[in-house]
Amino acid sequence: MASTTFANVISPMKLSFMFLLMSNMALFGVSDDTACVVTYPQAWIKVHPQDVDKIQFALNLEFLEAEFFLFGATGFGLDKNAPELAMGGPPPIGVRKANLDDVTERIINEFGLEEVGHLKAIIETLGGFPRPLLDLSSQNFAEVMDDAFGYKLYPPFDPYLNSINYMLASYVIPYMGLVGYVGTNPYLKGYKSKRLLAGLLGVESGQDAVIRTYLYERVDLVVHPYNQTVAKFTDRISQLRNRLAGCGIKDEGLIVPPQLGAEQRTSSNVLAANELSLSYDRSPAEILRVVYGSGKENVPGGFYPNGGNGKIAQDLLRSPK
Ligand SMILES: *[C@@H]1O[C@H](CO)[C@@H](O)[C@H](O)[C@H]1NC(C)=O
Repeated sequence: MASTTFANVISPMKLSFMFLLMSNMALFGVSDDTACVVTYPQAWIKVHPQDVDKIQFALNLEFLEAEFFLFGATGFGLDKNAPELAMGGPPPIGVRKANLDDVTERIINEFGLEEVGHLKAIIETLGGFPRPLLDLSSQNFAEVMDDAFGYKLYPPFDPYLNSINYMLASYVIPYMGLVGYVGTNPYLKGYKSKRLLAGLLGVESGQDAVIRTYLYERVDLVVHPYNQTVAKFTDRISQLRNRLAGCGIKDEGLIVPPQLGAEQRTSSNVLAANELSLSYDRSPAEILRVVYGSGKENVPGGFYPNGGNGKIAQDLLRSPK
C-alpha cells in the first residue's frame, strides 16, 4: 500500500537517481548523516601546544586589518562590531571612515567583516590576546609612503581621502598576512591548526588578489597630485618592505622586470610570487621589521607604537638590541 503511494509520487527518473545515490553511499561506507563530516584518525592531534603562539601571532595583523577595513567602510571598528574580540586592548589611533565610492566601500566592508570572522576563528580555536595599540593615522601612512619614495610627498599622503589612496594603503596590509601564513604553515602539527591556517591563508590571499587586481586595472593612473603612477606606488611599497625585512626579494609591485614575472616571461605581475609562481613566505621577525617600519623586530613603531602582542612578538621585542 505504502509502496504504491511512493511510486505514484516519485518518477522513475528520481527513483533511479536515488538508487544511484544509495549505492554510492554504500560504496563509500557513509550514511547520509555523516556524508559531509570530515573525520580524522583518532590518534591525530587537533591543536598541538606548539601551534598556539605561531597562529596567535597572526592576531596582530588581523586586528590591524579588521580596524582599518571596518573603519574605512563604516566609520566604526571592532568596539562597535564585536567588542569582546578586542579583549580589552586600547582603541586604534587616527583611524576613520574613508571617502570611498560605492563599489570600493562594499568590498572593504566585506573585507572588514571577514577579518571579524578570522579573529573569532583564531580566538575560538586556540585563544587570543588583547588588541595591540594600532596607529592607523593618516600621518603614519604618509610616513610609510615617504619612506617608500625616499622623499616627502606633498601634500602628505592621506589613505582616507579617496578610493585609490585607500586601495594603495590597503596594498600595504593583507599581503603581510598572506606571506606570514605561508611561513607558518610548515611548523604546524595539529590538523585543526592546519585547517584553520589554510582557511585564513585562502581568504587573505584572496583579499590581496582583489586589491592587486583593482590597482592593476588602474596601473597607469597618475595618483594626484604626486605625479606617480599606481604601478610606481606598488613598486616603491614592495621595495620598501623588502628593504625593511632584509631577506631579499619577497615582495613585488604590479609591473616587474620580466625575470621576476611568471616563468620569467612577463612583466605583468598581478600576483606576487617566486620563480615557480609559489607565494613567498616570511617569518614573524621579518613581518615585524616591516610593520614596525624600523627594520628591527625589537624596535616597535609604525603601525604598532608599543609593539605586537602575544609570546612571539613580545619575546622578539625583548631580544637584545
Ligand atoms: C610627471 O612625471 C613625468 C614622468 O616622470 C615627467 O615627464 C613630467 O615632467 C612630470 N610632470 C610634472 C608636472 O612634474
